[in-house]
Amino acid sequence: MKILLLVFLLSLILSVNSGTEAQTNNLPLIPYPERVKQLDGNFILSSKTYIKNSNKKILDYFLSQIKIFTGLQLEIKNESDSKSIIFFRIEKHFSVKNKEAYSLSVTRKEIVITAPDEEGLFRGMQTLFQLIPASIKAEHDGSPVNIPCCKILDEPKFKWRGLMLDCARHFMSVDFIKRYIDILAYYKFNVLHWHLTDDQGWRIEIKKYPKLTQIGAWRKEPDGSTYGGYYTQKDIKEIVAYAKSRFITVVPEIEMPGHCMASLAAYPENSCTGGPFEVPDTWGVFKDVYCAGRDSTFYFLKNILNEVIKLFPGKYIHIGGDEVPKDRWKACPRCQARIKTLGLKNEDGLQSYFIKRISNYLNSKGKHVIGWDEILKGGLAPGAIVESWQGTQGALDAAAQGHYVICSPASHTYLDADPENLDLRIAYSFNPIPKDLPADEQKYILGGEACLWTERAPQETVDRKLFPRLLALSEVFWSDPQDSNFDEFHSRVEMAYDDLNARGIQYGPETKAISFKTSFDEVKKEFTVTIIPGQKDLEIRYTEDGSEPDTLSSLYTSPIIINKTINLKVAAFRKNVYVGKEINLSFVFDKALNANLTLINKYDERYRAGGPNALIDGIRGTDNFRDGLWQGYSGEDFEGIIDLKKETEISKVSPRFLQDAGSWIFMPKDVKVSLSKDGKNYFDEKTITNDVPQKNPDVVLKDFTAEYKNQKARYIKVIGESIKKCPPWHPGAGQDAWLFIDEIVVE
Ligand code: ACM
Ligand code: ZN
Repeated sequence: MKILLLVFLLSLILSVNSGTEAQTNNLPLIPYPERVKQLDGNFILSSKTYIKNSNKKILDYFLSQIKIFTGLQLEIKNESDSKSIIFFRIEKHFSVKNKEAYSLSVTRKEIVITAPDEEGLFRGMQTLFQLIPASIKAEHDGSPVNIPCCKILDEPKFKWRGLMLDCARHFMSVDFIKRYIDILAYYKFNVLHWHLTDDQGWRIEIKKYPKLTQIGAWRKEPDGSTYGGYYTQKDIKEIVAYAKSRFITVVPEIEMPGHCMASLAAYPENSCTGGPFEVPDTWGVFKDVYCAGRDSTFYFLKNILNEVIKLFPGKYIHIGGDEVPKDRWKACPRCQARIKTLGLKNEDGLQSYFIKRISNYLNSKGKHVIGWDEILKGGLAPGAIVESWQGTQGALDAAAQGHYVICSPASHTYLDADPENLDLRIAYSFNPIPKDLPADEQKYILGGEACLWTERAPQETVDRKLFPRLLALSEVFWSDPQDSNFDEFHSRVEMAYDDLNARGIQYGPETKAISFKTSFDEVKKEFTVTIIPGQKDLEIRYTEDGSEPDTLSSLYTSPIIINKTINLKVAAFRKNVYVGKEINLSFVFDKALNANLTLINKYDERYRAGGPNALIDGIRGTDNFRDGLWQGYSGEDFEGIIDLKKETEISKVSPRFLQDAGSWIFMPKDVKVSLSKDGKNYFDEKTITNDVPQKNPDVVLKDFTAEYKNQKARYIKVIGESIKKCPPWHPGAGQDAWLFIDEIVVE
């Protein structure tokens, strides 16, 4: 029997072409298997198909997934006379020594998945699920399914293929996490890195310290509402078990010694100063961290970890370690005493001591620690795994010291980044093995992770942040594209869109969905707006009345001519699914259009907009301060004088400012507008005071409108008084604040 099996496997290996040869007419698979041979004909999956006496553990899962994807309720039978059979087989002497490896053989009569382990059978099943046509998944009404005949032999390149979900900044429901576990399984990921604690929320129930969730799981939003949520230990057990049944390890991340404001709000005695603290409602890096000088801090953290260890049976616990400001430790007598007593070099040494002390404890419980690359500073804890996020230096340094590494450089894997800056092509170009890594150290690279930080990604936006770029990383981690053939990959991404639609995944754009160019014709007095699509197959639709574009709005086919004051909104769709970030342009045909503007203070060259006259060019900035329309002033007031060239009746002067506190851009304290006939004597000064809270986390646009009763004037002076320095509560406290202005409308 064994010999027969070996012969079968050998013939399979010999008959299966390499991936490159098969690239002309590829199967709709992501990640693409190592070896694929396409054959003529189809296997017909129908209610007549039987599952043969296969491995029980994964069978229930298989049947339930087939039901979801096709609507078919298959039966298990042992008869061998059936015309249509699916068979899963564990073969201990499988040709490939990797428990995730598998072979999949689809002929007209049978589907056979063979693997050395259940895990390989599970990965092979995902390949089979991907071969079910999207049209079947969309209907899942029990219709027969054509599965193309093929032979596949496959194994992963990297053994760590993860997704980090930050459920601290924004909470994700238990059902949503389970949905993502299924999505991860489908694309052959095997790690869910669950970021459970951070400054803005503590999301894991700890029975010994109930205030962590009573206080730490909730934050007051600037509008007065309360935001939050947490996972009970029961929820966590359910999620961990769900993931386990899908061969996914859940790695919890409990942040220390920084990113812990929510914890300190609940138990301020673990800080250097003693608090009190609130769970912050703003983003950034906070100076208050766990006190490394108090033994009670370690007692507290060990008790927390004792509960964490019980909940997560996996080998790994992530303890963060990133972005730890040393200000409090420098001023804390206890922390300084610790440095002195232990003869540490400085506060970096203290951070290293902190991580080592926790790491030793976790090692004693049979766990390995993972930390972000900052844990390298001051010396690595023995056996610690480094997750390299700041470029690749952390990976190089850790591997040189013989430590294992997970590569997640922000440049290629932080999928919260706008696709404008990290697009599908960039994600696909990622190689977890750094270019400069010596060959004999490559063994230390376990793999990589896609990361989703959620400051700007509440649950309902997660799909569109992750997709389609997660497809690229799935292939990078599993298939390791050698001479990256992006165009070939992209042809499979195009096929994958129907599959994503059928499975209800609300993907976003591959790259900057749409951009625009404008020009103004001085003679005809009209603007021309040209829209430039960033990817194929986009339908571009627009409105001119301020309403949100939808699939029934005007279709863009040629440049749009604008000769009156309107609000132009443009959005991109693909097969009726909204994908594109909207362009929102206000055109104003006002009295200042093409007047002269003299600026008293100079704007910052990085945010010059169109230069000196940009503020009266008839186009108002969008809600993206980088759109090239906003003018930015760093730590300075705005002061400008408009010369209308002749005396003009004025009823309104409306300069617009933008606030984006997370980007250090604040509203002016107030705006003063005054008029003059001669450019020397100004009269009728009006002061419009700001009413937008500085802590508002959103991007806010505000018109500071001065109203006049048909005053006559030639010159208009506008002064926006900057707050100059970021306020004390802000991560940029004391540093220059930005003031952003675009378009001063005169009516
Ligand atoms: C990180 O992005 N602070 C790990
Ligand atoms: Zn301290």
